[in-house]
Amino acid sequence: MSVEVVKVGLLGLGTVGGGVIKTIHSQQEKLAARLGKRIEIVKALVRDAEKERAVQMGRTVLTTDFDEVLHSGVDIVVEVMGGVEPAYDYVRASIEKGCHVVTANKELLAKRGAELVELANRHQVHLAYEASVAGGIPILGVLRQFLRTNDITGIRGILNGTTNFILTKMEAEQLSYQEVLREAQELGYAEADPRSDVEGFDAMYKLYILAQLVYGESLPLAEVSRKGIADLTCGQIRIASELGYRIKLIAQANQTGDGIHLSVEPTALPLDHPLAQIQDSYNAVQLSGNIVGDLLFTGRGAGEMPTASAVVEDLAYLLTQPFTPHPVWKEREGAAKELSGGREQSLCYVEGAGPAATPDRVLQFLRASGVEVHKLKVQFDLGGVLRAGLITSGLHEEHTDLLRSDFGLQVRCFPLLHASE
Ligand code: NAP
Ligand code: HSE
Repeated sequence: MSVEVVKVGLLGLGTVGGGVIKTIHSQQEKLAARLGKRIEIVKALVRDAEKERAVQMGRTVLTTDFDEVLHSGVDIVVEVMGGVEPAYDYVRASIEKGCHVVTANKELLAKRGAELVELANRHQVHLAYEASVAGGIPILGVLRQFLRTNDITGIRGILNGTTNFILTKMEAEQLSYQEVLREAQELGYAEADPRSDVEGFDAMYKLYILAQLVYGESLPLAEVSRKGIADLTCGQIRIASELGYRIKLIAQANQTGDGIHLSVEPTALPLDHPLAQIQDSYNAVQLSGNIVGDLLFTGRGAGEMPTASAVVEDLAYLLTQPFTPHPVWKEREGAAKELSGGREQSLCYVEGAGPAATPDRVLQFLRASGVEVHKLKVQFDLGGVLRAGLITSGLHEEHTDLLRSDFGLQVRCFPLLHASE
């Protein structure tokens, strides 16, 4: 049987690009048999052609000039370089040349996806981006293929592997945030600029993409409520655990009468909540469909091979499926911006020194202000030095402001989910 050769240009040969090469090489025979096509990487764009790499490429394959990729007869361009510029220009030029594009770049999609989708439709080429959301979990394929009949009423998930890895290690090994971040970088989980992970931008980009697929629109990024984990301490994580909760960076999209609401923020989950069990670099996406009910998808959300798996599955998909137009991406102003202030229950961590920093005085103040305190865990109360955690209902910003100003306490509150939510 003759096997057609498909020429692929790779933009980027770092963590993901290296995994893509390894996967194509190790699965080549199987792919050729299943697809009737042999994938050949003819060019790979890098910044530094002299750099030592885990994967060996022929000297003629590596280039630092994008035009060489574009003019090497490629049928498909795989963008795994990251960032918005020059990735946008390169993806745009590839589409305009009639190449199908596979990308893992959620920042590019969240910031310029609407234009790229429209351009890909105009040129009748595939724009595939499974690897951009939740690493190896084939969630976008599932949404596209299997959830056409259901209305999705809510999406909730852990969409960033780096932060989930950091939170897991901070809890299990009482390591500082900085130590664990270094390890996440060494393992290839973190973005080139890890602030994108720890400040919640990366999860926000992925949530934006999910909202486009599920609701056919999203909020402008500037309207997404976003908090990261950069200010979380081992003390806060430990007290949450003593109260029976685990802090996770939770991304949520809900459609209400007012429109869509998207948020990313550290959230306290009871230990028996399904998302509390998602540890290490694993991600999870929880969906509720009006017919199917609750669904939970989980798998490795970051790293070389899980991400390469999603990229190569996209390649295999577009090599076997005819082009069909992509639904256009839209943005709409949303419901009022609001973080945890509007939620009923929260887990609050308080720490400080001073005459007013005693459990009794804090409780007295909160109860007199109409705040219900369901649980109090005092980690230490050493004559004016207090560290404690509380589970509260009805606590608002005015209360936390007073705890800071009048009681000399540092206060950090996390919205709280119940096991069945
Ligand atoms: P990475 O390890 O930093 O690799 C980036 C690659 O792109 C490097 O080979 C770099 O060249 C090349 N590159 C970057 N800017 C370039 C430029 N202006 N011109 C030419 N080459 C350039 O990044 P990565 O972790 O593989 O991530 C790549 C993309 O996949 C990002 O969009 C990321 O968000 C996404 N992603 C990553 C993961 C993950 O777990 N790492 C998971 C899902 C999605 P040099 O090698 O010469 O520096
Ligand atoms: N930096 C990202 C993460 C890579 O940690 O989830 C996968 O998108």
